[in-house]
Amino acid sequence: MPDTNPLQMKKKIAIFASGNGSNAENLIQYFKNSDFAEVVLVLTNNKNAGVISKATLLNVQVYEFTKNQLYTENDIYDALQFAKIDWIILAGFLLKFPETLLKHYPDKVVNIHPALLPKYGGKGMYGMHIHKAVVENKETETGITIHYVNENYDEGKIIFQAKAEVLNTDTPELIAEKIHILEQKYFPKVIEKLILTNENYPSFGGG
Ligand code: GAR
Repeated sequence: MPDTNPLQMKKKIAIFASGNGSNAENLIQYFKNSDFAEVVLVLTNNKNAGVISKATLLNVQVYEFTKNQLYTENDIYDALQFAKIDWIILAGFLLKFPETLLKHYPDKVVNIHPALLPKYGGKGMYGMHIHKAVVENKETETGITIHYVNENYDEGKIIFQAKAEVLNTDTPELIAEKIHILEQKYFPKVIEKLILTNENYPSFGGG
């Protein structure tokens, strides 16, 4: 008989990404070994994004959409519903996540940001723009923030942060490498823990 107990079924993750896709790739690989969750769909607004080939090689379905579709049509919600998505992860997604979609997934949309929010957040603050600003402002530390998505750029409740030291000899490229290491190390584990604690899996009830 098929197992229909919702507590025993793997939670389904969709990843939104616009670029290279190193975080998406890491999440897909990590959850291939998980009993609790799996990445079943990658969605991108960029037909040239590296994430497309990475996801395809790992046998994850890719859904491409236009900015217009994202903000004015129901296609994306339909695709998420069809794939029975429980959690949405933004991994280098550079468009504003629409409020209409957010309403369907309360507290189930999570973003990673390559800075210690609330510093270096908001529109236009992404990727190398952030690391350049960190160097220009002579910061002594930077890091990553994993947070819930709300209706404002980079302002949702913070779930996790990890720091990296910035040396006065660091270039934006060196900072990008430090951030990449933190993202690869922590992002999948934080998402897994979030899913486990929020979905009340029996064996994890006591924390
Ligand atoms: C990551 O560093 C991610 O934190 C950042 O884009 C990069 C995507 O890399 N996200 C933002 O700047 C969002 N504001 P990837 O495509 O290789 O995962």
